[in-house]
Amino acid sequence: MKLLQRLKKTKIGSSIQYHIQPRKVKFEWHNTPVDWVPEQPFVSYFINEINMILPAGEFWFCRLYNKVLPQIQDEKLKQDVQAFILQEAMHAQAHNSANKEYLCERHIDIQRNLDVMDFLFGKLLADQPLGLNIPKPLQHQWDLFRLGIIATVEHMTCVLGKYALYNTEWQKSGADPAMLDLVKWHGAEEIEHRTVAFDLYRHLGGGYLARYYLSVVVIAAVLGLWVDGTAHIMQQDPRFKSIRPAIYKPWIWREWYAISQRNNGLLPNPLWLISQQLGYLMPWYDPVHEAKTEDAIAYLNQSPAALRAMLKVA
Ligand SMILES: [Fe+2]
Ligand SMILES: [Fe+2]
Repeated sequence: MKLLQRLKKTKIGSSIQYHIQPRKVKFEWHNTPVDWVPEQPFVSYFINEINMILPAGEFWFCRLYNKVLPQIQDEKLKQDVQAFILQEAMHAQAHNSANKEYLCERHIDIQRNLDVMDFLFGKLLADQPLGLNIPKPLQHQWDLFRLGIIATVEHMTCVLGKYALYNTEWQKSGADPAMLDLVKWHGAEEIEHRTVAFDLYRHLGGGYLARYYLSVVVIAAVLGLWVDGTAHIMQQDPRFKSIRPAIYKPWIWREWYAISQRNNGLLPNPLWLISQQLGYLMPWYDPVHEAKTEDAIAYLNQSPAALRAMLKVA
């Protein structure tokens, strides 16, 4: 009994002292061209695809976190999770606004890519996967598996967040300010809340070894969905008609790699992205050391979309 009480007391809680700040944002898409990085259609489509990938997943994070919220015994971690939910919901809304007011307005068919993500997060990874009832004794394991996926994805979003936050090449290439702000604002908030998913996963009993297979599953899924979705929207552009990009054709992978080498900083190198997963597998991994919160906050304090939303409220 005493041991149980001691274990309860030492249960891993929040690993941060600061309070995560949910922010409202407002993006204006009237002037954003399809090639939002001028003369870089591949780069523009590649990054535009994240608008389709993210919302379904982020709303799924919110649903699952709301479900497990009553199980959290650490008050600060509970506050972190609540702020995380508000931030992720705002990310999803912001990317949805880009889908509706920017990509659809430019006559890009995004529905097929949205349907893939809806199937994945609305059906396959739902509380009842593909409509199947999970037996009661296994429900916690199913939740834990999904929380592990979120923790692994959040390591990757922190890595990508750093890449976006410190990127200077997009701006040098004359990138559209709205898309630039969207990726930097999102990246900065990913850095700000980088500890939450990992803390929550461990708090609710997530183990160390699962990180290995979760990493393999997540990296393969993210790269596959990203390239497949990009190929689908690129195919609609007459400039890529003769190539007809597809996930199974080496061209799109080679081109991604070549651009990341040629134009240092316009796209992250796929091999670098995979290598960034290694740190997550180390027993001493601690997301606090993955990035600098103060750099993220410095950007967030002057993000045009966040300032515009504040003016609207005032
Ligand atoms: Fe996010
Ligand atoms: Fe996140």
